[in-house]
Amino acid sequence: GKVRAPTHIISTISDDRGDEPCYAGVPMSTIIERGFNVGDVISLLWFKRSLPRYCTQFIEICVMLCADHGPCVSGAHNTIVTARAGKDLVSSLVSGLLTIGPRFGGAIDDAARYFKDAYDRGLSPYEFVEGMKRKGIRVPGIGHRIKSRDNRDKRVQLLQQYAHNHFPSVKYMEYAVQVENYTLSKANNLVLNVDGAIGSLFLDLLSGSGMFTKPEIDEIVDIGYLNGLFVLARSIGLIGHTFDQKRLKQPLYRHPWEDVLYTK
Ligand code: ACO
Ligand code: LMR
Repeated sequence: GKVRAPTHIISTISDDRGDEPCYAGVPMSTIIERGFNVGDVISLLWFKRSLPRYCTQFIEICVMLCADHGPCVSGAHNTIVTARAGKDLVSSLVSGLLTIGPRFGGAIDDAARYFKDAYDRGLSPYEFVEGMKRKGIRVPGIGHRIKSRDNRDKRVQLLQQYAHNHFPSVKYMEYAVQVENYTLSKANNLVLNVDGAIGSLFLDLLSGSGMFTKPEIDEIVDIGYLNGLFVLARSIGLIGHTFDQKRLKQPLYRHPWEDVLYTK
């Protein structure tokens, strides 16, 4: 047989050696000729397969809805301060991205993990939420600083509406809504947030599309692909905030003394 020199890198998602680059075996010309969108490219490079149109459109909706949420949120704030310190685009962008984590934008994977585990084990919302409380863990995907029962997050509603109209099953999302009903009975701001909506709906996409085996779904959830959606999406807004500050020629930011409680 063939003797192959050992390689230092294994790669399975793209290939640039031929006439044209390929994403998961699909040549660039096909991507353009068939009118693929960014959701299709994400499917090829992240999931290594072409997904049905309703799935790629859902991915695009996630990206559009999470692209920005104004200048006051953690990520945009860091980016603005960094841009105003005279730093370049990449520094300003990553300074914002570094705030994405368990409290801000990066709760999607954990929401998917915990909702999946609780649903698959048949836990009632009461058992799930109280169990998390006993462990001292906040339910990922639940809670928001400014959104509440009477001021719902439009993004969550839009995602839910899309899934209701296009997904074959929304069982995980419905479970997340039952959890929300329970947490709302405790406090008004314990709504299903955009991370929780994407986390639960992506479980529905993975399990309902028939495009993934069970072990593949477990691997996606274990590795944690889904925060990538927020990172990718919010980069669009953070880049915008960097340009905005530069365009406005904003000076070095210094936080006002009056807004700090100096105490011993
Ligand atoms: N699960 C259970 N109880 C909660 C949760 C939750 N997810 N969130 C808040 N609470 C309760 C707790 O009792 C908390 O008291 P504690 O500090 O003793 O735990 C109490 O509400 C008050 O919480 P606050 O800290 O005042 O809530 P805050 O408004 O600061 O938090 C936050 C908002 C960070 C989103 C919080 O709800 C949370 O950690 N959620 C889980 C992580 C998450 O989903 N983050 C993504 C948010 S969406 C986004 O960033 C795009
Ligand atoms: C966001 O998308 O940045 C928000 O949901 C967080 C916030 O506090 O508004």
